[in-house]
Amino acid sequence: MASVPTELSKARAEKPLLAVLKGERRDPVPTWMMRQAGRYLPEYRQLRHDRGSFLELVYDSDAAARITLQPLERFPEIDAAILFSDILIVPFAIGQNLTFVAGEGPRLTPPLTSANLDDLTPFLTRLEPIYETVAKVRAQLGEGKTLIGFAGSPWTVATYMVAGQGSRDQSEARRLAYADNERFGEIIARIEHVTVEYLSCQIDAGAEAVQLFDSWAGSLSPAQFEQWVIAPTARIVAALRERHAGVPVIGFPKGAGGKLSAYARETAVSALGLDETVDPCWAASELPKDLPLQGNLDPLALVAGGEVLETAVGRVLDAFVDRPHIFNLGHGILQDTPIEHVGELIALVKGAR
Ligand code: CP3
Repeated sequence: MASVPTELSKARAEKPLLAVLKGERRDPVPTWMMRQAGRYLPEYRQLRHDRGSFLELVYDSDAAARITLQPLERFPEIDAAILFSDILIVPFAIGQNLTFVAGEGPRLTPPLTSANLDDLTPFLTRLEPIYETVAKVRAQLGEGKTLIGFAGSPWTVATYMVAGQGSRDQSEARRLAYADNERFGEIIARIEHVTVEYLSCQIDAGAEAVQLFDSWAGSLSPAQFEQWVIAPTARIVAALRERHAGVPVIGFPKGAGGKLSAYARETAVSALGLDETVDPCWAASELPKDLPLQGNLDPLALVAGGEVLETAVGRVLDAFVDRPHIFNLGHGILQDTPIEHVGELIALVKGAR
């Protein structure tokens, strides 16, 4: 007679990363790395070289699915695949032109310092190939592995849309937010609207969790952080929850520091990504005990490897030992990371207990 699964075995049937995102502690801790599909991998560089352009890879859903899965093929213990795409696909769909200039980074034209939203012709079909990638990855994903979808947060995406490129201190967007609160609010609202649709369609296509990358959350004063980071994020989380109850949303407000507690409380994200400047002992004691935390190894400790890496990994694991934790870096993996160090990292995390 077939045995009735116990509560425990049913719970264990949940994928490790999803279980932690829903508030469980798992040992060994599930792990993935931000920007894990990319230039530190020779197999990515080869494809990138053969095909010539980053956007061409993003818009070829077979190639993008292959790239998404590359890190898991090389490192089968990684628990999640993150969709291979970019946060700037949203401005591209809103109607800016997007190019990646070799050695200089992304360019969006016209920048919103010199153009209005109304001057842009939206091309929402520019999002559709991304959903094909999601579906293709999901169909090929190994057992127990989770597929993470993502978007940039409205604030971070707005910094690129306004300046037309990356900038050191996001000053164009910050200046516009002060000079013309209403116009800046309209830009944020437009991004927010498209982002909800975009993430919702990624979930429909097979993404099992989504992450909001807020790479420039750290550049705002507290009142501006409330208005341009917390409020739009809270609205996105609420809208997604209404449409997709049970699909976790990870918030990653890089550089938020002392504003992390307010962010966690007011946005109601399912899990919080921590950058490497956050003291994990502070986070473990100050952030709600049941809130899953993700992070936060310094990507440079991974470049260093050896004892430096071992010590740094131990610090992170120890600090979060009695709460739901997903091991990750504090920011994206750096291009010059020796691949063997990634193997060492995974062995340290997975062999910890
Ligand atoms: O995590 C992953 O592996 C999934 C794919 C992913 C990419 N970009 C691929 C990419 C993700 C999640 C991103 C997020 C992203 N993109 C962010 C937020 C996270 C962060 O790192 O702060 C930001 C700010 C961007 C914008 C962006 N895209 C920049 C500034 C650049 C150029 C600089 C750089 O890192 O190369 C990109 C290009 C980009 N996005 C590449 C990749 C693999 C490199 C493209 C190439 O092959 O030349």
